[in-house]
Amino acid sequence: MENDSAIQQTRHWVHRHSYNARISHWINVLCFVYLLLSGLMMFLQFPELYWGKVGFQGYDAVFKLSDWGLSWEEADALGNRRWGRNYHYLFAWVFVINGLIFLGWNLWQKRFYSKMLPSREELSRKHLIADMKNHIQFRAPTGTATRQYSVLQKISYLIVLFVLFPFMIVSGLAQTPAFTAISPELIDLFGGRQTARTLHVVCTVLLLLFVVIHLIEVFIAGVVNQVRSMITGKYAVLTQSAEGD
Ligand code: HEM
Repeated sequence: MENDSAIQQTRHWVHRHSYNARISHWINVLCFVYLLLSGLMMFLQFPELYWGKVGFQGYDAVFKLSDWGLSWEEADALGNRRWGRNYHYLFAWVFVINGLIFLGWNLWQKRFYSKMLPSREELSRKHLIADMKNHIQFRAPTGTATRQYSVLQKISYLIVLFVLFPFMIVSGLAQTPAFTAISPELIDLFGGRQTARTLHVVCTVLLLLFVVIHLIEVFIAGVVNQVRSMITGKYAVLTQSAEGD
């Protein structure tokens, strides 16, 4: 006969995130919100994207907001380039400095490699498919498995940290007149300022997608425990055992 009361749940606390990870994470959240909002405010006042060196209203565009129901004039009225530029340039540098401190500290710490780099076993087809199934079925890890990142989580964090963030910075610098004045090769590398701008916006959409999935995962895994550990560093691990074990 099954007896539910025979199962006992015990909760113990583990230290999950370092000071550096927590502080840089929340600074990053603030930067991302401001960079996204200020970027949007600038984009609305020029709501078309072009490829190559040239782009202006009426020129062949790769993306037009008007195709999605908002005319140039309507978008222009919603945007605010002056506010956008002020905050975008301010938070871009906070974002870069914060990222450099985070990376410098972590690359120096041995723990970063074991925490973030997937092992050969984790990269096996079997393991990857099992992890994909867990994510698709919204199954969150339990017990001691909650203490480490899943393989898909590790891969997505590595892509964000080492591909998307650096790309955001380089494509941002390619649009910064003060920087391209001393390094015009950066614009040539992209094949034109308009291409850099378009790829900057594409990368914004990818980052936004990452943030949405990241937030869904946080809710599935338990928002209170997750956010508390990102603030205090302490994470509650629940383990189940039969009474008398
Ligand atoms: C997660 C970070 C970031 C997001 C989400 C983001 C987003 C955006 C968006 C949506 C735009 C509007 C594109 C346009 O219509 O011109 C933009 C423009 C721009 N971004 Fe970013 N950006 C980020 C980081 C950066 C960084 C790190 C830099 C600098 C190193 C940067 C420099 C620029 C510049 C120079 C522009 C053009 C501004 C202008 O026209 O005056 N961005 N960004």
